[in-house]
Amino acid sequence: MKKNVAIILAGGIGSRLGLSTPKQFFKVAGKMVIEHTVDAFEHNQYIDEIALVSNPVYIPEVENLILKNSWKKVKKVLKGGKERYDSSLSAIQAYTNQDVNLIFHDAVRPLVSQRIIDDVVKALQTYQAIDVALPSTDTIIEIEGDFISNIPDRSRLKRGQTPQAFHIETIRKAYEIALTDPNFKVTDDCGVVKKYLPETPVYVVAGEESNMKLTYKEDTYLLDKLFQLRQSEVHDITQNPEQFKDKVAVVYGGSYGIGAEIVRLLSACGAHVYAYSRSSTHTDVGDRSQVADTLSSVFAKEQRIDFIINTAGLLNKEPLITTDYQTILNAVQTNYMGTVHVALEAFPYLKQSQGKLIFFTSSSYTRGRAFYSIYSSTKAAIVNFVQAIAQEWEDFGISVNCINPERTKTPMRIQNFGIEPDNTLLTAEKVAEETLKTLASDYTGQVIDVKREIV
Ligand code: CTP
Repeated sequence: MKKNVAIILAGGIGSRLGLSTPKQFFKVAGKMVIEHTVDAFEHNQYIDEIALVSNPVYIPEVENLILKNSWKKVKKVLKGGKERYDSSLSAIQAYTNQDVNLIFHDAVRPLVSQRIIDDVVKALQTYQAIDVALPSTDTIIEIEGDFISNIPDRSRLKRGQTPQAFHIETIRKAYEIALTDPNFKVTDDCGVVKKYLPETPVYVVAGEESNMKLTYKEDTYLLDKLFQLRQSEVHDITQNPEQFKDKVAVVYGGSYGIGAEIVRLLSACGAHVYAYSRSSTHTDVGDRSQVADTLSSVFAKEQRIDFIINTAGLLNKEPLITTDYQTILNAVQTNYMGTVHVALEAFPYLKQSQGKLIFFTSSSYTRGRAFYSIYSSTKAAIVNFVQAIAQEWEDFGISVNCINPERTKTPMRIQNFGIEPDNTLLTAEKVAEETLKTLASDYTGQVIDVKREIV
C-alpha cells in the first residue's frame, strides 16, 4: 500500500480576510483554524503522514503549534511559495522519488469531515486524481465585460473544494508539462491534471457545505456557528454522563429556573454541586466578598473547583425614565459587577483545576430593546467581557464561555411577561443540557446560542 501523505497548504496570507495575521491562525472554538485542520488528518485512520506548507515568515509559529499539539503524524514543515500552486509544488518536490499519494488540503477548511477524507483516500485505490465538489445552488453565469455571455446548465456544475488528491507521479508529471507552457495560468491542482494530462480521469467525491473555506470576514461568524453545531453533536452528555462524576461545581443563581436545572443535571451525573442564590443562601454576586467566601468554603471542603457557573441576573422590564434609580443600580451591580466578581474570585481555583467558567447572556445582547435598556446592555457587556477574559486566561488553561438562551420559561420571565404559550419558549432543562455540553467541550470565548427545536 502506498503511504497517504496529507499536505496542508498554509502558505497564504489571507488578504481578503484582512486580519493582522494570516487567516489560518484565526481562532475559532478554542483553537486556531489550522490546528482544527491538522487534527482532522491526524485523527484519520488512512492518513500516514502530514506535511505543513507555510509562508517562511510564519514557520516559527507553525513549529510552536506542532510542539503544543504533540501531533504524531506531522513530519515536515515546508516553505510555501508566492502562489498557491508554488506551495503545492514545494510539497511535490519534497516527496519526489517516494511512491506516495499526496492529499492536498487548504489549511483554511477546518471542518473537513472524516467521511470526505475516507472517500478521497478510498477513491485513490481506483483513480489517480480526485477532487471534492458539491452542487451549485446559485445559477452560475458566464460574462463578457458587464454582460452575460452564457448560462451553463446548473445540473452539470459543481463547486470545487479540497482535498484534492493524486498519485504523486500524476501530479508531478502534470506540473512538469504545465511549467513548460508559456500560457500556464494559475488554477487548482485538479485543473492542472485536467489540462495537461487530459486522458487522466479526475474522480469527484461529494463535498459538504460545512467544508467551507474561510475567505471573508462574514465567514468567521458562520464558521463559529458550524463549530458549535458540531460540538453539540459530539458532546451529547447522555452518551457519557460519567465525565462529570466527582467534578466540583459551583452554581450562582442555583435555586430556580436555569440555575436550578443545571444543579439538578450535574448532580444526576454524580458531580458535587454547590448552589448559591439570594433566595436560598442570601448570596449576592454583586457583593465580591460573598463570592470570595462561598468559593473558599467549597474549596476548603473539596480541595478543588472544576466548574463555576453564574446564572444570577435581574430583569426589570420598564422604560428607563420611570425606573427607580436604586433598581437600576441593583441590576448593574448584579448583572455586570456580579459577572466581574465571579470571574475575579474564580481565577485562582480554575487556574489550579484548568477549569471552566460559564456566564449567561440574553438574545437581546445583539440589539437593545425598548423597556430592557439596563438588562440588555449589561448582557451585551457580559459577552464582550467573556470574549476578553477567555483570551487573557487561555494560557492558564481556563475556558470561559457564555450561554445565550432564546426566551426561556423561567420564573423571572413569567414575572415580567406573564403567561406565554409553552411552544414559544425553551425549557430551562434544555438550556441546562446545552450548558453541560459546553462544559464537556474544549470551547473558550464562545457565545453558545440555544434555540428551540422547530418541529
Ligand atoms: N495558499 C498557499 N500558498 C499560497 C497561497 C495560498 O499555501 N501562496 C493556501 C492558503 O494558505 C489557504 C489555501 O491555499 O489555506 C487557499 O487559498 P486562499 O483562500 O486563496 O488563501 P490566501 O491566499 O491566504 O487568501 P487571499 O487570497 O484572501 O489572500
